[in-house]
Amino acid sequence: MAAGKTVFESYLSQLGESAWAETLTRIRPRIHPVDSQATHIWFAFWPLKLRLALERSPDPAQVFKDFQLDGKPRLEEQIDASVAFLLGSSYWPEVKQAVTAYAEEVSEPEETGLDAHVLELSGLLAARLRVEPSLLTGIVAVGMMVLRQVGLSSLAKGAADPVPNGRPNSVAQALKLRSRRGRGWKSLIWKSGRYRVTFDENTPESCYEALEGQDLSMASGNDPRDFRELDQRRIAGPVPVQCRSGACGYCWIGVLSGQENLSEMTPFEQRRLQYFGYAPPAETARKHPVVRLACQSKCYGDVSIVVPPWNGVLQEGAPEVSSNAED
Ligand code: FES
Repeated sequence: MAAGKTVFESYLSQLGESAWAETLTRIRPRIHPVDSQATHIWFAFWPLKLRLALERSPDPAQVFKDFQLDGKPRLEEQIDASVAFLLGSSYWPEVKQAVTAYAEEVSEPEETGLDAHVLELSGLLAARLRVEPSLLTGIVAVGMMVLRQVGLSSLAKGAADPVPNGRPNSVAQALKLRSRRGRGWKSLIWKSGRYRVTFDENTPESCYEALEGQDLSMASGNDPRDFRELDQRRIAGPVPVQCRSGACGYCWIGVLSGQENLSEMTPFEQRRLQYFGYAPPAETARKHPVVRLACQSKCYGDVSIVVPPWNGVLQEGAPEVSSNAED
C-alpha cells in the first residue's frame, strides 16, 4: 500500500483505463436511463490517461504542450462543477461522504470487482436515502473515479457543499426534461425549423437557437452573449471553436439528450474524434454517439449538450502513460 492511502485507494490505483471502461460497460444496464449517457459523458470528459500525465510529470507545461491542452483540464479544480450535469448530482454531497467512508472501511477490495463495489455502495446509499439504486449507480461510479484521480482528502474536502450552478428541482422534472427530447420531438414553443440547443440544464437561460440543418458551432456563434469570462475558449457563443472544420478539436461536446436529432456521424467526424482521443472506437462507431464535434453535428431538433472545460489531443501515439499508478 502506498503511504497515506487507504487499502481501497491503493486498489483503485492498480486499475487501468481498460478496467474502468469494462466496469462502465458492466454497470451500464444498472444506471437509470436518465443518467446513462451523462455518466458516459463524464468519464469521456475526465480520462484517467490525462490525469496520470498531469500528476506524474515534473513539468506540467510540457504535458500541456504534449497533449495540446487548452482550457481547464485539472479535475481537482472543479470536482463539484464536473458532476453538475448528472441527475445524480442531486445526491452528490451524500455520495462524496459515502465514497469517503467506504474507502476508509473496505479492507479486502481485491476479493470483488470494481463493478461490485459500485453496486454495493449504490445499494447501501439508496436504502439510506430511500431512492432507486439506479439513480445513484452512475454518480457513485463517478465518485469512485474522482477518488482515484484526486485522492481521499480532496474528495472529503467540502463533502457537504452544495453542487454549484443549482440542482434539478426534482428527479421527476429532470426525467421529463431529458425524456421528451426523443427522435422527432420538436419544440412547440420555438418557430418551425428552429430548434433549442440547451448547454446547461441547470440555468433556464442557457440555450441558443439553431436553424434546421445548421451545425451546432455555427448556431452557437449566432448567440450574441459573451462567454469569455466563463471560459476564454468561448470566443463566439457558448461552444468553444477555432476552425469550424474538424481540425482543432475545440468544439467537442457531450450530448445529454436528443442525440438522434443530430446528423449521423460521418466517417470524417469519426476519424477526427479518434484522432483527438475523445471517445473509444466502440463509441465513435455509433451513428449517434454521446461525444460529438459541434462543428460536424447538424441540428434537426432540440438537443441538450454539455461543454467540457478543456480540449486536447489524447489519441494513440500521444505520450504514453502507464496504467499502474502506484508511485
Ligand atoms: S471548431 Fe475545430 S474541430 Fe470543430
